[in-house]
Amino acid sequence: MSLDFLSYFRRNKSARRFQKRFDILNSIVKLRGVTRYLEIGLHEGRCFQRVECRQKVGVDPEPQLKISQPQVFELTSDAFFKINIDRFDLVFIDGLHHCEQVLKDVLNSLQFLDPSGSIVLHDCCPPEEATQNREDGPQRIQKKLRWNGDVWKTYGYLFDEYPDLNSCVVERDEGMAVLLNSPDFSVRESIEDQIEEAQKRWAKWDWGTYLEKKKSWNLIDDAESFRRFLKES
Ligand SMILES: C[S@@+](CC[C@H](N)C(=O)[O-])C[C@H]1O[C@@H](n2cnc3c(N)ncnc32)[C@H](O)[C@@H]1O
Repeated sequence: MSLDFLSYFRRNKSARRFQKRFDILNSIVKLRGVTRYLEIGLHEGRCFQRVECRQKVGVDPEPQLKISQPQVFELTSDAFFKINIDRFDLVFIDGLHHCEQVLKDVLNSLQFLDPSGSIVLHDCCPPEEATQNREDGPQRIQKKLRWNGDVWKTYGYLFDEYPDLNSCVVERDEGMAVLLNSPDFSVRESIEDQIEEAQKRWAKWDWGTYLEKKKSWNLIDDAESFRRFLKES
C-alpha cells in the first residue's frame, strides 16, 4: 500500500468520525480524559448509547429508550439538579431548546462540573430562520420537521458576557458549542439574576443578530482543528 493511499485513508477515517454529535462528544471523552458523562434530553438514547464513557447519567422527563438504562432519571433537568450530588466531567445539553432553559441548564451544570470539565450545547447553528422560531416549535416537532429552537441565544449571551470562557462552535450536526471550564472561571450572579439580565438582551435579538454574531464565534469544522482546540486549551 502506498504512503499516499495510507494518509488519504487515515484522513478520511478521521473525517468520517467527525460528523455526528457523538463523534464530537467521544473526541472530548478521549482527549480530555472524561470518565463521568451527563446527558440532558435523551429521547431514544441514540447519542447516549454511543458515547463511550465509563460512567453515564441521563435525564429526560419522557425518555423513549428501547432498553431501560439504570442511570436514567425520568425528571426534568431542573428537578434532577435539585436532587443530584454527583460530579461530572462532560455535560451534553440537549433537552428543552428554549434559551432561558438552556442557560439555566448551563448554570446548574457548572455547579457540578469538574474545573477541567466541559459543557456542550446542541443546536447552536440553525440553518434557517424558521428552525429557530420559538412559536413554530410545537408545530414543526409535530410534523417531524427540523427545529433547533433558540439555543444560539444562550451561546451568544455566554460568549459576550464571559470573554475569558474558552469555547468554540463545531459546525457539525446542527452546531455543537463546546465550553471548557477552568479553575478561574466563575459566574457573577445568581441563576435568576443572570436569566433576567439575559432576557433583556435577547428581547432585542433576531435572525440578523444571529448571522452577525456568528461571524465572531470560534467556528471549527475539521477534526484536526478541534483536536488542537481541546489539546491546547
Ligand atoms: C432533541 S431530543 C434529545 C435527543 C438526544 N440527545 C439525542 O441526541 O439522541 C430532546 C429531549 O429533551 C427532553 N426534554 C424536554 N424538556 C426537558 C427538560 N426540561 N429537561 C430534560 N429533558 C427535557 C424531551 O423529552 C426529548 O426527549
